[in-house]
Amino acid sequence: MTGSSRVWTVVVAAGSGTRFGGPKHLADLAGQRVLDRSVATATGVSDGVVVVVAADQVVDITATISADGVTVVAGGDSRSESVRLGMAAVASDAEVILVHDGARPLADRVLYERAIMAVSSGADAAVPAVPVTDTIRRIGGGVVDRSTLVAVQTPQAFRAEALRQAHDAGGDATDDASLVEAQGGTVMLVDGSRDNIKITNPEDLAIAHTLVAMRSEIPRSEIPRSDTPPEEVSP
Ligand code: C5P
Repeated sequence: MTGSSRVWTVVVAAGSGTRFGGPKHLADLAGQRVLDRSVATATGVSDGVVVVVAADQVVDITATISADGVTVVAGGDSRSESVRLGMAAVASDAEVILVHDGARPLADRVLYERAIMAVSSGADAAVPAVPVTDTIRRIGGGVVDRSTLVAVQTPQAFRAEALRQAHDAGGDATDDASLVEAQGGTVMLVDGSRDNIKITNPEDLAIAHTLVAMRSEIPRSEIPRSDTPPEEVSP
């Protein structure tokens, strides 16, 4: 695989947003819809982008999406089904396919590039991940050793053939790397970002507003990187 390999991204946004109380990808985030922010970054790093939305939103999103050259298709009843429907619109000569949750509007270009790089260097799948900071307890009792856990994000990148084989086998999972792994594919973890939150509950949108404001108002060099510990300050 070369640095010029054809890269496509499928942005899935066909969920009903039950926990949010409506379609979260249509919510305004500092003057732009959540979905438009997610798609803008995807188009910047991809040769082609497919956006998957609920069937009754296809006409409206096609007419109003702010990015050019994007294909909008109808999704399915589960996330995995929506990914499969989106993949059907990906060019057959794609070498790397990324899958991104439309509900993660703050994924930046660096995250995409990290994941693409890992696939270009030989992984079947590359998954951005961040350490778990809460103590995790099983409902039935017992605490899980969090040092063995990471929280997984999107964009996830795949060798196109590995992702196609995984989805051809069917199955449902909360992410695509699980399906690739179930077919024997290799999954590489890359650094995710704490900023890359998934808008799930209404308060997530308020947090995202704050993160957008920090990005635009404070020079980037002065924002502490979310994936490195803060510098020690002497007393
Ligand atoms: O609900 P969940 O957090 O798993 O959703 C992750 C992403 O998958 C969201 O962007 C959502 O819109 C999308 N999704 C989808 N089709 C579904 C369910 C979820 O495209 N049927």
